[in-house]
Amino acid sequence: MHELVPVVFGLSVLLALTALMLPVANRGNLPFTVLLAAIGILMGLVVQLLHAAEIPGPIGDLLHTFSSFRLTSETILFLFLPTLVFESALSIDARALVRELSPILFLAVIGLLVSTFFVGYSVALVSDQPLVTCLLVGAIVSATDPVAVVAIFRDLGAPHRLALLVEGESLLNDATAIVMFTLLGGMLTGVSEPSLLSGSMSFLTVFVGGALLGFVMGQIVLLVLAEVEDLPLVENTLTLALAYLSFITAEHYLHVSGVMAVVVSALLIGARGRTVFSKAGWELLESLWGQLGFWANSLIFVLAGMVVPVILLSASFDLMLPAFVLIASAAVARFLILFGLLPAFGVLDAGAKVSAGFRAVMFWGGLRGAVSLALALIVLETPGISEEAKVFVATLVVSLVLFTLFVNATTIRPLLALFGLNKLPPADEALRRRVLADAMTDVQRSIHVAVQHHAIEPELVADLEREYASRARHLGKDEGDLDPETWVRVGLQILLRLERHLFEERMDQGLVDQDVTRALLSQNDRFRDAARTGGGVALQQAQHSATGYPADIRRGVWLQRRLGWSGALGRALGRRFETLQASRSVLEDILERQVSGLTELVPDEALPPMRKVYEARLADVRKALDALEAQYPEYARALRRDLLELIALRHEQDRYQRMLDDGIIGHEIFHDLQRVLVKRRDAASTHPPLDLGLDPERLVGKVSLFKDLDAATIKEITQLLRPQLALPGELIVRAGDAGDSMYFISSGAAEVMLDKDSPVTLGSGEFFGELALIKGQPRVADVRALGFTDLLVLYRKDFQTLLDQEKTLREVIHRTAEQRSAPN
Ligand code: CMP
Repeated sequence: MHELVPVVFGLSVLLALTALMLPVANRGNLPFTVLLAAIGILMGLVVQLLHAAEIPGPIGDLLHTFSSFRLTSETILFLFLPTLVFESALSIDARALVRELSPILFLAVIGLLVSTFFVGYSVALVSDQPLVTCLLVGAIVSATDPVAVVAIFRDLGAPHRLALLVEGESLLNDATAIVMFTLLGGMLTGVSEPSLLSGSMSFLTVFVGGALLGFVMGQIVLLVLAEVEDLPLVENTLTLALAYLSFITAEHYLHVSGVMAVVVSALLIGARGRTVFSKAGWELLESLWGQLGFWANSLIFVLAGMVVPVILLSASFDLMLPAFVLIASAAVARFLILFGLLPAFGVLDAGAKVSAGFRAVMFWGGLRGAVSLALALIVLETPGISEEAKVFVATLVVSLVLFTLFVNATTIRPLLALFGLNKLPPADEALRRRVLADAMTDVQRSIHVAVQHHAIEPELVADLEREYASRARHLGKDEGDLDPETWVRVGLQILLRLERHLFEERMDQGLVDQDVTRALLSQNDRFRDAARTGGGVALQQAQHSATGYPADIRRGVWLQRRLGWSGALGRALGRRFETLQASRSVLEDILERQVSGLTELVPDEALPPMRKVYEARLADVRKALDALEAQYPEYARALRRDLLELIALRHEQDRYQRMLDDGIIGHEIFHDLQRVLVKRRDAASTHPPLDLGLDPERLVGKVSLFKDLDAATIKEITQLLRPQLALPGELIVRAGDAGDSMYFISSGAAEVMLDKDSPVTLGSGEFFGELALIKGQPRVADVRALGFTDLLVLYRKDFQTLLDQEKTLREVIHRTAEQRSAPN
């Protein structure tokens, strides 16, 4: 046990030192982590050389304490890693991550395996260590650290999708690397037998088990959080506890992946926490985790740096060659994955195109950090591994980590310059000029006002005015260098940012549900990627597919048709209502007010095309919303009533706030009023799931064919018919398919596409699909739902039963079938 005072003293000095490195790094344009590691190594050296010398006073105490700081794998794994992982997973958009899960998993699992084996075999070629040891090294160095790349991507305004892929990859590949490491480590120490099957099985259990645990623990904390209202201190503390509890429960007790547990629990908090926390509470939480992440990151690099001299001093020169091969093969493996595997599977290019420059950044920026070091330290601490193997693993890993830090990280900026990524893209540059020019004119105008206002002597103003005028002239000079098409893209980017802002504003005012807003913001990210790479056309397409049917609706439809359960579909459609309504209102706002406000920033010719894109988007949204409203007018009315109430509550809230600010009421009354408001707001903003009204009896009652039947018969018929909701545009029957059912339209309409130009429209009470049943032939035409359409499905097996019972029905159906199949 350390003595407490020197430890606290030593840690405080380290914290102060690391904190001061940040401004130094910024000023010297150096990567922060590189600087930290360098300081750490230097300190490690000093401590190695001097700690035996008897230096009196605080300096001596410090040296003594530092020499007793032994960074162990346990410290990294159980103290630093949960914080680092939680912090970065918290800021990831979980919704987008789920959407991109396959490329990310591909990179994190397949990519990691490829890299492990490639590196392992390459190193084994030039060393006398057994293959397992070399594979172990391969696994250790395949966990990438995204911090550098992601920071660069943010600076450069890279597509969101790219940053997400890199960040997601490295979070999950930490987990895969640790799991691989444990498996290989087991083989090395002879605890487990090498076998592909059992290896893959335990890999899966550990990986998925960790994720499940994280999910369960995250859910529990969310439940607790929902009960704790507006106590940020409690909320923050609970999330901190969650990070550590899920890691320790996973790693230590259940022996599943701790990283996966933390990743999933943090994603859950990130995705749903925002709806549970108040806005201020969420901001506090973000800043808490930002701070914790900063401490963990800085301490870990310095402390790891201090270990480096210890490891390298014990290494021999024979390891130079394997170390070199390791560095080279790790780079080749990464290259192969990014430029060979990914394009081969079309992973990177689905969605936005990834430029060579960005690929180069992903390649060269694949740094290795804390996780690799922790794993190397575990090897050092594991009994049962030969001394030689320990030195081998540790030296190799440390060499690679140092290489990526001191070579890759320091040269990434020049690399950016090589690809022209270090300056603003021409479009941003042009916009910057416009903004500046606009500001210059504005400043000139306000100087005059200020002069009169403050009674400043006019001659004083002349100089300043000349300066601004000349700057404005200078800016105006080489303008018009962008073609109109690019200006449209620039303008669309601005509008999309505005759109984002408007969504957030509506959420802050409590008018749009936070969950819905999150979906809209995530959609906005995709739209921006689309507009950036493909301009207006791509944006329109993206809008079109977003107004199409997203995964939750398709899932709901599936559940309704297979299991007859309409709850999920009702909820999804309810959400769709809200999403579309919010989109419509924001798009209308932009078209009415915002586009014309851009005249100073974008040339006039660019405005009409921008307007056109937005009009097309609005038309798409309106169409989808109209279809919903036509089908569920009651629900639409209920939503509008709630919206009205929310607006009223908003005004009420403002009013109380003003009274509080003016000192008319005190805090007690205010809080009392507030409590009532919160309750009413909750009531108005939680909507019941949409009732699809797919009640067979009701639907049968609406079909005129069945109208005249007596109650008992209707009851019998009802047993044979299955209610089903068709979505607008959905293909219900496909020409040429073998049919095993016919459909009665209860409400809505469908088009029979006999002839492309003149489809036959069928409405309520009519039916289709009978020909295939009667004649035993393939479907003669496509039939498509026009709007939301309630159908009653009659399957082949019940068809005969029903027709035998109901002679009139039989007659009508057969007669219609004859007419329809008669040549005209
Ligand atoms: P089926 O061939 O099973 O699938 C396509 C359906 O389109 C067909 O059954 C009829 O129900 C319907 N159909 C075919 N021709 C016409 C028509 N002229 N008018 C209305 N509906 C038709």
